Amino acid sequence: MPPANLVYTTSGAIKVTPHIRRQFARPLKPAQRSAHTVTPDDLKDLLRHVKYPGFSRDIVSFGLVRAAALIDGTARVALQITTADPQVPQQLRHDIEALLRGKPGVREIMVDIAVAAPKAALRPVTTAATAGPGAPAAGAPLKDVRTIIAVASGKGGVGKSTVAVNLACALARVLAAQGRKGVGLMDCDIHGPSVPLMMGLAGQRPGLLAEQQMLVPLEAFDVKVMSMGLLITEETPVVWRGPMVTSAIRNFIQNVLWGELEILVVDLPPGTGDAQLTLAQTLPLNGALIVTTPQMAATQVATRGGTMFNQVNVPILGVAENMSWFEDAAGTRVALFGEGGGARTAEQLGTTLLGQIPLFPEIRAGGDAGRPIVVAQPGHPASIAFLELAKAVLAKLISAQA
Ligand SMILES: Nc1ncnc2c1ncn2[C@@H]1O[C@H](COP(=O)(O)OP(=O)(O)O)[C@@H](O)[C@H]1O
Ligand SMILES: [Mg+2]
Repeated sequence: MPPANLVYTTSGAIKVTPHIRRQFARPLKPAQRSAHTVTPDDLKDLLRHVKYPGFSRDIVSFGLVRAAALIDGTARVALQITTADPQVPQQLRHDIEALLRGKPGVREIMVDIAVAAPKAALRPVTTAATAGPGAPAAGAPLKDVRTIIAVASGKGGVGKSTVAVNLACALARVLAAQGRKGVGLMDCDIHGPSVPLMMGLAGQRPGLLAEQQMLVPLEAFDVKVMSMGLLITEETPVVWRGPMVTSAIRNFIQNVLWGELEILVVDLPPGTGDAQLTLAQTLPLNGALIVTTPQMAATQVATRGGTMFNQVNVPILGVAENMSWFEDAAGTRVALFGEGGGARTAEQLGTTLLGQIPLFPEIRAGGDAGRPIVVAQPGHPASIAFLELAKAVLAKLISAQA
């Protein structure tokens, strides 16, 4: 039996109990305010110390805290979460009580947690028959993933997937040189999934652990790969409505068995709409890498993309400028797409330019052939640029954690 004030709904909709409503909807009478009244903001700041179980992100930045107040010595905190794991609300309640107990002015602590059950697990079209109905959804599938970074851009066609793919391969090489392993690449771009093609995995299907209803990622070039594109067949509707995208993304994130990873690179869909926001809020992102081209116009769009991460408290690691220049036969650099866009975007977002990737026909050819240039020609100047970018990203992550 769940505690009386926890509400499980099978539809996935979150229900606020009358109890919660009574606690928080009632306006405060002036007489009820005491000298100890801490503003909701103060309390929320404290709650930033509570991590969501299995994740490195806190419950406030996840947007799970619905209300927080301290009135006449009673701290009241209301959360809304989505999980199938009964341990999660228990753990959260314990952590919040432990955090607030003994704080000046706190005599009593009341934690209300409304729990919505996640929707049914996503089943890949080809293997749906092997998954038993009603199998439990997994708890925290990303709990053994140490770092998650998003590769993002305000618009498509800037080479975001090319950067994500080569960055993942470059990270695998840099980590291997340090005797470490564990790189994953998650492609969330359902509108133009190109990652499987670029990684030489076109036409392959991920495995399915029927018991747990978990998808097992494919692997190429020492990188574990999972793409929403791998789940789409000719019969799957090409046109996804907004809410479908959002719930498909949520299910996708919850149902991939990544195992232990040092770093997971996420290729986000281009833009700053619902799908991007859902991802930025659902994934416990440690940082975002913004990809832009050198053009003025691209700078504006890239900056808008970066601003979205600021809004959801995801740190921006830096900017990668792609298609920076082209070297002609004589070795002269030609700025085909203008100059300075990467540096300007970085400046506007208050971050650094972490790398510049020139335009090389070999980069495109590597993508088309399913052998990223970093793997196919590790000594190529383009590969060296990607390896430098990987090192800069790792350095930025380390300095952010220090
Ligand atoms: N630096 C580069 N040099 C040459 N071709 C590139 C470069 N970056 C990307 N491309 C090519 O540009 C096209 C679009 O890149 P892609 O990574 O799919 O963009 P996005 O994911 O932003 O839509 C692809 O054909 C890719 O091979
Ligand atoms: Mg792409």
